[in-house]
Amino acid sequence: MTAKYGNHKGMCFSLLSTSSEILTFIENEFQVLDDDVFNVTYPKSGTSWMIEILSLIRSDGDPHWSRTVPNWDRMPWLEVKETQEKLKTGLQSPRFFTSHLPFYLFPKSFSRSQAKVIYTIRHPKDELVSLYHFSQMNMYLEVPESFEQELQDFLKGDLIYGSWFNHVLGWTGEKDRANLLIMTYEELLKDLRGCVVRICNFLGKELDEAAIDKVVENATFKNMKDNKMANYSLMPEEVIDQKKSPFLRKGISGDWKNHFTVEQSERFNKVYREKMKDLTVKISWHE
Ligand code: A3P
Repeated sequence: MTAKYGNHKGMCFSLLSTSSEILTFIENEFQVLDDDVFNVTYPKSGTSWMIEILSLIRSDGDPHWSRTVPNWDRMPWLEVKETQEKLKTGLQSPRFFTSHLPFYLFPKSFSRSQAKVIYTIRHPKDELVSLYHFSQMNMYLEVPESFEQELQDFLKGDLIYGSWFNHVLGWTGEKDRANLLIMTYEELLKDLRGCVVRICNFLGKELDEAAIDKVVENATFKNMKDNKMANYSLMPEEVIDQKKSPFLRKGISGDWKNHFTVEQSERFNKVYREKMKDLTVKISWHE
């Protein structure tokens, strides 16, 4: 445990962004509504990208909303301090939320609801690299001593929002729920348009071809990087210092090859094989 982090039921969290009390409230008392939509990820798996896609789908491809309102107001993070006031004053339905919670800490009331969850998974080696860079520039996070240290913490499950392995196993274990859509970052990269169509079908949202094109166009890496409502440039430099590393850093798959040594990659694979042997969904990189 470090100065910036707390532990809640086995999950490491940033004391600056949330608390055990809030996490307890969200799990046990927060009431999910049938028309709520949740964008759920382990950090650095494409959370902001999905916010952009969902915001654009919601506004029929019109980018006005996503170019005038910061993404944290369009889809507030469910479990963070700032959102708790908004929950009290009430948010307009349908409510769209973002969350990094593992399934076991997600609101219990979700199970009795028709609310929809989109859970996005990213190749864990790329996720780790992205988190490593993010940790250098985000004051809410501990700065790892080295990439090796970050890797060891990842393999032990000792990072923000807990073990990646447990997070993915927990959510994918719910795969048979009709109100859960599981996506991967790599699918988004490969076929953004196809993914937008899948998401629209899942949400029951009918968009014509031109509107789908506009969603895709405005959710590209380049356009998000140019959009100050999506690129976090509105955040004070003391919170997010993009001189150290941009939030929209590379936006590719396979960057792990520039960071892992052969030994680190093999060590990672060994743990991955052990921990993920019971994975019940098909993911392209999973053996
Ligand atoms: P990199 O650090 O590898 O570039 P999150 O939003 O969960 O924090 O994830 C951030 C990661 O998603 C960053 O990865 C960021 O560049 C990437 N990302 C965000 N929007 C993207 C987009 N439109 N296309 C590709 N990658 C995107």
